[in-house]
Amino acid sequence: MIMPKKALSILGSTGSIGVSTLDVVRQFPERFEVAALAAGRNIDLLCEQIKVFEPSLVAVLDRGLATQLQQRLQSQNHQPEVSFGQEGYERVAAHPKSRMLVSAMVGAAGLLPTLAAIEAGKDLALANKETLVIAGEIVMGLAKSKGIAILPVDSEHSAVFQALQGNHREALKRILLTASGGPFFDKTRDELARVTPEAALRHPNWSMGRKITIDSATLMNKGLEVIEAHWLFDVPVEQIAIHIHPESIVHSMVEYIDGSVIAQMGIPDMRIPIAYALAYPERLPVQSPPLDLFRLRKLNFYPPDEEKFPCLRLAYEACRRGSTLPAVLNAANEVAVGAFLDGRIRFLEIARIIETVMSAHDVAASLTLETILKADQWARQEAERLTCVPVDA
Ligand SMILES: NC(=O)c1ccc[n+]([C@@H]2O[C@H](COP(=O)([O-])OP(=O)(O)OC[C@H]3O[C@@H](n4cnc5c(N)ncnc54)[C@H](OP(=O)(O)O)[C@@H]3O)[C@@H](O)[C@H]2O)c1
Repeated sequence: MIMPKKALSILGSTGSIGVSTLDVVRQFPERFEVAALAAGRNIDLLCEQIKVFEPSLVAVLDRGLATQLQQRLQSQNHQPEVSFGQEGYERVAAHPKSRMLVSAMVGAAGLLPTLAAIEAGKDLALANKETLVIAGEIVMGLAKSKGIAILPVDSEHSAVFQALQGNHREALKRILLTASGGPFFDKTRDELARVTPEAALRHPNWSMGRKITIDSATLMNKGLEVIEAHWLFDVPVEQIAIHIHPESIVHSMVEYIDGSVIAQMGIPDMRIPIAYALAYPERLPVQSPPLDLFRLRKLNFYPPDEEKFPCLRLAYEACRRGSTLPAVLNAANEVAVGAFLDGRIRFLEIARIIETVMSAHDVAASLTLETILKADQWARQEAERLTCVPVDA
């Protein structure tokens, strides 16, 4: 039987997940086509992508970039409509031709376009975990009312999703998220005080965008993933545990009430969970090196150290207290990570800034998109202010 091609919109097409998604599209041209693409500032790469994948619509960050892009496209055969800013991103997300949105912008910027896609009835392949961290209740509520599917792209959540297939939800005991531990797993707190952005950007197993790579080094990435799992799988945060697993082969596990633990394994290659999300419930013959357990021989697991990596504790606390606190955690983290990458603050300041901003926040009594966006803005200003406070030598 010939299947119709699935048309995709991709937010963040120039990022690590966006590029891997387009590689999956390239591997399976009979299965997927690209309806619309959105990037931030990288119009060089976007131009290349337009040439190869011929989307009908593209969007970039602002009017200036849109004008530059239009000029560059004059010499190309394929000329898509070019839009920009929030409106452009929402149009890409909700493009009439697309059946699924790959939501892969980084940070809170992904929230509103992702909501626009759900509103328009598009299924989601969700990489942008910040969307669920900030507004999980609203996103999941809207997805339910629109009857759309949310397929996880995050390798851990894809693993959990796969381990849940064919089992009764009442039999689930715990979700066990694995974490590589990042590049600083073995460092002491004193050593952590002196680590540089360059060292933090050297992830041992995964090649990813800059922000998520720093989040992996602070373990905030795992904290954000706990909140993401809480919303995605409707599981209380107390039933989500973390196992540090430096080899990144077991992508996560589900423990059942009979003592069975089902794990999903594979080499660390994001094209595998991306292809699963795009083709679900089918599996595609993704071109990726096979997992060789004989070569690996050993898989290790350790408990996380919340003293050394306080971002984990902060994320659990934000998830437990809920309301606008996860949005505040996320916004403060985005600002602090940016400041660390710019060399304005030290590594350990990231958690300190987030904790200070969270402590100063009055959690909103009612949770609406408006209160969330207000909390996000407030937390950004507070965190920005704290990045200017001189740090002890
Ligand atoms: N990378 C991974 O392996 C991985 C795994 C699991 C989950 N995720 C999640 O997937 C998301 C993307 O991660 P990534 O590693 O692919 O990030 P990335 O490589 O930094 O790419 C981010 C993408 O978002 C765009 N972007 C950045 N800021 C923007 C803004 N303000 N408005 C519009 N677009 C903006 C960038 O555009 P330009 O580059 O054109 O400026 C780029 O296309 C994150 O939420 C991350 O947590 C990533």
